[in-house]
Amino acid sequence: MASADTFFAAIENRVSCYSLTNKSPTISDDRIHQIINDTVKHAPSAFNVQSTRAVVLVKQDHEKLWDIGDAQLKKAMPEPAYAALAPKVQGYKAAYGTVLWFEDQAALDALKSKNPGLQHVLPDWAQHTNGMHQFIAWTALELEGLGANLQHYTFMPDFSKEVLETWDLPRTWVLHAQLVFGQPADGLKRKLERTYAPLEERVKFIGA
Ligand SMILES: Cc1cc2nc3c(=O)[nH]c(=O)nc-3n(C[C@H](O)[C@H](O)[C@H](O)COP(=O)(O)O)c2cc1C
Repeated sequence: MASADTFFAAIENRVSCYSLTNKSPTISDDRIHQIINDTVKHAPSAFNVQSTRAVVLVKQDHEKLWDIGDAQLKKAMPEPAYAALAPKVQGYKAAYGTVLWFEDQAALDALKSKNPGLQHVLPDWAQHTNGMHQFIAWTALELEGLGANLQHYTFMPDFSKEVLETWDLPRTWVLHAQLVFGQPADGLKRKLERTYAPLEERVKFIGA
């Protein structure tokens, strides 16, 4: 198998897995920590700014996160919307852990002051690099038998604020996403079979 095929097999293995438990995962906390370290070490960033920050919450701290999510949803949403979303939050809480993904605005501001001409593109690039980190960790955790799904509770500013306060994180860290992980209750499968829009409409190969 050519080396890129091994890489694509790993990518194909990644799914959004929502049915997760908090049972002792098949890999240790140390291994999970190492996967997140390797992700943060090896993911690329614009001008090598290395602005992404990760916080791994497991067990009671993970549960606390989703208690915050539930309370903030209740506060922010009309009752029917809260009623629809609350069971999802309980599903995340039932998992084993969450990786919180941040961008450090202090690191981005330092890059901006060195490159003022780029300031209009740096917020986009910060999103790009954060997404790359999320994707690498998601793929790696699922290669080792865990399941994961990606959430964005950042639509509620008070959620991000309470997260920073609860774990006393630097106030320059901006929360981008939450990668929920745990032992798949029912194997590593997609909730819905994935459909693929025609590649001919999505990829152009020019000049051959
Ligand atoms: C940028 C981005 C944002 C996403 N946001 C969410 C989200 O907020 N909640 C969620 O459940 N899934 C989210 N997803 C997961 C997608 O819905 C999912 O990847 C897609 O439907 C394909 O399914 P698969 O992950 O099983 O391949 C997101 C994915 C991406 C790439």
